[in-house]
Amino acid sequence: MEYRGYDSAGVAVLTQADGLVVERKAGRLANLVSALDDAGHGAFAGTAGMGHTRWATHGAPIDRNSHPHRDTAGRVAVVHNGIIENFAALRAELEDSGVELSSDTDTETAAHLIAREYDHGSTAGDLPASVRAVCRKLDGAFTLVVTHADQPDQVVAARRSSPLVVGVGEGETFVASDVAAFIEHTRDAVELGQDQLVVISRDGYDVTDFHGDPAHGKPFTVDWDLSAAEKGGHEYFMLKEIEEQPDALANTLRGHFRSGRIVLDEQRMSDQDLRDVDKVFVVACGSAYHSGLVAKYAIEHWCRLPVEVELASEFRYRDPVLDRDTLVVAVSQSGETADTLEAVRHAREQKARVLAVCNTNGAQIPRESDAVLYTHAGPEIGVASTKAFLAQVAANYLVGLALAQARGTKYPDEVAREFGELEAMPSAVAKVLATVGQVRDLGSRMADSRAVLFLGRHVGFPVALEGALKLKELAYMHAEGFAAGELKHGPIALIEDELPVVVVMPSPKGRAVLHAKMVSNISEIQARGARTIVIAEEGDERVRPFADELVEVPAVPTLLQPLVSTVPLQVLAAEIARSRGYDVDKPRNLAKSVTVE
Ligand code: F6R
Repeated sequence: MEYRGYDSAGVAVLTQADGLVVERKAGRLANLVSALDDAGHGAFAGTAGMGHTRWATHGAPIDRNSHPHRDTAGRVAVVHNGIIENFAALRAELEDSGVELSSDTDTETAAHLIAREYDHGSTAGDLPASVRAVCRKLDGAFTLVVTHADQPDQVVAARRSSPLVVGVGEGETFVASDVAAFIEHTRDAVELGQDQLVVISRDGYDVTDFHGDPAHGKPFTVDWDLSAAEKGGHEYFMLKEIEEQPDALANTLRGHFRSGRIVLDEQRMSDQDLRDVDKVFVVACGSAYHSGLVAKYAIEHWCRLPVEVELASEFRYRDPVLDRDTLVVAVSQSGETADTLEAVRHAREQKARVLAVCNTNGAQIPRESDAVLYTHAGPEIGVASTKAFLAQVAANYLVGLALAQARGTKYPDEVAREFGELEAMPSAVAKVLATVGQVRDLGSRMADSRAVLFLGRHVGFPVALEGALKLKELAYMHAEGFAAGELKHGPIALIEDELPVVVVMPSPKGRAVLHAKMVSNISEIQARGARTIVIAEEGDERVRPFADELVEVPAVPTLLQPLVSTVPLQVLAAEIARSRGYDVDKPRNLAKSVTVE
């Protein structure tokens, strides 16, 4: 689970010999492992336990802020994901009643409150009831997992707007934020709904709502196994995931074109609703947002519909104009990004329809949407998105075709032809992958660069933004993506001798006008001393004289170009990061799923 956060890690185990044993350490999981060895806890003999990897929100990533947190008597242990928004008031209330808190976290308040309920409340001696009573007092998003020294055969977990799944094994039961935590032991899982609490024991699980009324989780079987979440001989996950991109694309397309029609995975809105759409918003964060920028070009061209692409974190705070004929496409690999989830909720409150593009079956965003198209990229462990991004781009094209089909802006044979072109993309990406050696070599030579600029036009512009984001997050290098035409309006002042500039060229055949303008832009920056690294279509001889380094990608239809031109930029960022000695899979300060706003 380390990919979800790696600022610190901790465990709590209910042992027969020593009761509740807790060990926690700032930094990577390896630090915790050494701490456990030093403390002589090589192997625990216990009945129940929990582990946590943290991405810090309240409180610096230091030992005392690491989870699990305990009450003063050290009998209750709590791990928590999310943010308890009313924690300052709860903390003040605890302090007024004489409780001394030992961390700066919001989580610790929950440990003390649960202990107080368990010892003195109307729910005394009943751990699930005590947790429910506390959950009702908490504002914000949270998943809590709780154990008590008096209840060695019980683990209680609860969720609100933050993920929680149960794993049902034989003679053992698990709870986790993600099935990856228990896939080694069981593929039978149960997804909990909003404001639900589960008590797990050796023999199974029991679900209630926060008032104690019986409730039901949703059982499902995980359709991938441990090997999908292992490195398979690769130096790092990201490289493995880059290489899995042809499969990720093929799997995303598979099953979405049947009997001559684009089909979604789930549709809780009518075909008429789709026909009535008169405006599209794509809302997403980070790389997913870049996939939305690509979608804008395709959807506007294919469907003649206005498309706005919005950062999910901005969307609901600027009062967007939405109504029931607005389609909001929420793109999220994890399906649990808090900014995107809140944007979805805002859109639905305003009566807009929401279509989710998501890589995680049954995650919160698809559950709260009117239609869903799953990207079947498989689990992505590297924190920087690669195969999930490419799958999002492909899925967004499918959304565009589904809209064109519903609105009749494309005839069925045209939809079939576009889909056929998409189906050729996995092999085009495989061709790009065959040439990554050149890019890795280039990356290792660029390790000492101070900054890198990325330029693109048309669909190459979002690719430039994505290339810059990959470099920032992996290599901690200053990187900026620009629309090439915008350069002369300011950013050209950044060009200096030997500054590497990566240029994503449009196709000379597909967009001849843009190609010519781009060649002029390259000569302008070369004249000012930049070192040009050009990603261009095979056989593009016009650009060759302007390229200090030329990386060729196969010729593909204009709108689909991001699927091939992004790949060298992923490899470049990963290789620069590796050459600088950084952990490619776990860049500093980041986490894979950002479940806080
Ligand atoms: C960048 C990256 C992030 C995510 C973003 C959205 O490499 O991975 O920018 O794209 O946090 O995440 P999801 O798609 O899970 O909503």
